[in-house]
Amino acid sequence: MTTPRLYDDLAYLWPILSPPEHYTAEAAVLRRLIEKHFGGSSDQRRRVLELGAGGGHTLVHLADDYDCTAVDLSEPMLANCRELVPQADTLVGDMRSVRLGKTFDAVFIHDAVDYMVSEAEVKQAMKTAAAHLEPGGLCVIAPTYTRETFVDGDVADDGTTTDSQELTYFSYVHDPDPKDDTFEMILLYLIRDMKARTVEVIEDRHTCGLFSDQQWLGWMGDAGFNARHDKVDTGDEAGTGDPEDAGDLGDPGGEPWTLFVGIKL
Ligand SMILES: C[S@@+](CC[C@H](N)C(=O)[O-])C[C@H]1O[C@@H](n2cnc3c(N)ncnc32)[C@H](O)[C@@H]1O
Repeated sequence: MTTPRLYDDLAYLWPILSPPEHYTAEAAVLRRLIEKHFGGSSDQRRRVLELGAGGGHTLVHLADDYDCTAVDLSEPMLANCRELVPQADTLVGDMRSVRLGKTFDAVFIHDAVDYMVSEAEVKQAMKTAAAHLEPGGLCVIAPTYTRETFVDGDVADDGTTTDSQELTYFSYVHDPDPKDDTFEMILLYLIRDMKARTVEVIEDRHTCGLFSDQQWLGWMGDAGFNARHDKVDTGDEAGTGDPEDAGDLGDPGGEPWTLFVGIKL
């Protein structure tokens, strides 16, 4: 797989394109799941691992209360994470194979799981999650789309202006071949240099996996989890009343957030 430019030379755009505030609601859901599962009070700080943590936009909302570890394939994305969440441990690693040699109370794979494009890859990522949990540990996996929630031709756009740059982006998802297990996300970035008065247009294509709810649940069972499927309305989770908090790139158009929650057997 070629690395999408967003996670490579364009990783500096990530905090502008999908800012941490857009992950407040998702982080609140995770906190609630952790507290519900383990109980609210503990002498010990809970340890949370995110596989594919990117810029740490979710972990930043959890790091004051939990010991957070961020694993990602992309060093430039982890550089963003270190800047935003200096208290988190950051490690370059592939969720399909990484073994940190220690366990956590909870393992979370958010939108990064979209990059698992076959049954074998999803199962490898689930095996990695299981390898970092003791029995009773909590695993939460949240693909952006499942077959049931996918909207062919879905478009999103947003923009942000800084002193030197104006960034406008469009994302478009489509399924070129409904018979296979992938869809394509096309991102277009319009980067306007305010001083030079120029606009650069960049196209960045991402291939992502598309599986049914039943497949996700069955594979979590195969990986050694007692698994369930949750659908959570993230609209009110952050308690801010701001629909923007429901997220953008990792958010299928304001639909309830689909989660697969597993307890390691
Ligand atoms: C949409 S970003 C995740 C953003 C993250 N949720 C955040 O809070 O900033 C997707 C991430 O998945 C990572 N990724 C893709 N394939 C991966 C793999 N096999 N192992 C680890 N990380 C991976 C990319 O490098 C990228 O940082």
